[in-house]
Amino acid sequence: MKKIQIINGPNLNLLGKREPTVYGNSSFEGYLQQLKEKYPQCDISYFQSNTEGELIDKIHEVGFDFDGIILNAGAYTHTSIALHDAIKAVTTPVVEVHISNVHTRESFRHISMISAACKGVILGFGLESYRLAMESFL
Ligand code: DQA
Repeated sequence: MKKIQIINGPNLNLLGKREPTVYGNSSFEGYLQQLKEKYPQCDISYFQSNTEGELIDKIHEVGFDFDGIILNAGAYTHTSIALHDAIKAVTTPVVEVHISNVHTRESFRHISMISAACKGVILGFGLESYRLAMESFL
């Protein structure tokens, strides 16, 4: 069974409540349940933190024996060289995802510090960005 880790960064615990016109009305927990039902052949783990170091610790923890990491680093995407280095340090491939199309938004969201360390990037498809990332690991 493929082991996939989904990691959500800061403010993504508020999905469903947070800026619904940008991020939608669904909580992540509900969507995660749908993903688990859609991919019974995968063991999907979920972790969310608002703290940069905890995201790095999770990448270290799973990054040598999981088959894939799906990472929405939230705003740390645009700032964190430490996350870039953590992704480079592990052997598990990481797919960067974003719910919104960051390129249609403020210019500070146009830069990703982590894309160059990732296997690929999926953005702009709402929560379906996570499903598309799942497909990339099958
Ligand atoms: C986001 C986009 C980021 O710019 C923002 O800081 C987020 C969410 C997205 O999923 O669209 O927190 O990663």
